Amino acid sequence: MKYSVFAVIPLALGASAATPCTVTKYASISSAVASCTDIVLSNIVAPSASAIDLSKLKTGAKVTFAGKTTFEKTPDKSFDPIIIGGTKVTITGAPGHVIDGNGQVYWDGLGSNGGVAKPNHFVVVKNTVDSVISNLNIKNWPVHCFTISGGSGLTLSNINLDNTAGNAPNSVSNGLAAAHNSDGFDISSTSGLTLKNSVVNNQDDCVAVTSGTNILVTGMTCIGGHGLSIGSIGGKSNNVVDGVTFSNSVISNSENGCRIKTNSGTTGTVKNVTYSGITLKNIAKYGIDVQQDYLNGGPTGIPTNGVDISGITFKNVKGTVASSAYNYYILCGSGSCSNFTFSGTSITGGKSSCNFPSSKCTS
Ligand SMILES: *[C@@H]1O[C@H](CO)[C@@H](O)[C@H](O)[C@H]1NC(C)=O
Ligand SMILES: *[C@@H]1O[C@H](CO)[C@@H](O)[C@H](O)[C@H]1NC(C)=O
Repeated sequence: MKYSVFAVIPLALGASAATPCTVTKYASISSAVASCTDIVLSNIVAPSASAIDLSKLKTGAKVTFAGKTTFEKTPDKSFDPIIIGGTKVTITGAPGHVIDGNGQVYWDGLGSNGGVAKPNHFVVVKNTVDSVISNLNIKNWPVHCFTISGGSGLTLSNINLDNTAGNAPNSVSNGLAAAHNSDGFDISSTSGLTLKNSVVNNQDDCVAVTSGTNILVTGMTCIGGHGLSIGSIGGKSNNVVDGVTFSNSVISNSENGCRIKTNSGTTGTVKNVTYSGITLKNIAKYGIDVQQDYLNGGPTGIPTNGVDISGITFKNVKGTVASSAYNYYILCGSGSCSNFTFSGTSITGGKSSCNFPSSKCTS
């Protein structure tokens, strides 16, 4: 008797752990989220105005995207197609899966600046605690891809973002790349975040941190976009960036490499930011760029000093920019930049212009 009891209990536990709730219809997602801790979303077709809402997952729940996840058109800028939240949750993908944002039905070269109404944030990650997002393949998002805010202890890894289908102009984009404002990862007001070993192929920032503390971005491959960015800082609900490291990454065929930009006439703090082991290839505008003159999304050429930028390290940032580009472009407000360190940094191919640390740029 004793032996059979011992034999049965582990088997029963093993069997329940090995049986996920597999969801194949959009309408069944909410009940699975409410009751299951191991969910497989298999070949989901999300109808118009219907988000895949994973914001109320049970603590410790795991969700696996399998097969092809698709979205019908929802011309609404405040509609968020995928929402993620929870504590100790894991969001992942099965081998061969793809999440396709159906960007082609929105793209008009204008992104969030006008034209067709488009879901502005494709994957919204809000207030997660000690959670993991890994092994996802996402393509054709309408405007921004990941918007991550609040929470702490999030790790994102092995995420492949592919918006290359938006590189070419289409019939309504007036010769511009069809996709626009297609940031890979936008990060704000979070602490203890790690983003690693991921690929972003897009038309805007690869990663943009606008606020937050203790953030590590490493092992990134950024192609076709605007590089690894802090900013733009100022005029938002949180204007403090403290402790961000970008390391061991390659940025190619992009407008910028490493960029910090702050908004004109605003206040804020950017401190303890390190760019280390960054390889630049074929950069069109700026290799290293620090600018304090942004206004309405563009530079004015006149820097202001309300956002303090201090403790910035560029270590082993190496590579080439186009001949018309800047190796280094630094435009600080009066007295608002301090303690910049450059070591082992070598960017060649273009010109340079700096008003800090000296007019000779890194020296
Ligand atoms: C700087 O930020 C890093 C995280 O990027 C953190 O580990 C380190 O402790 C911070 N250093 C200081 C002096 O705050
Ligand atoms: C300069 O910045 C580095 C990196 O953030 C920091 O460790 C150091 O304490 C700062 N030095 C001063 C004098 O503020």
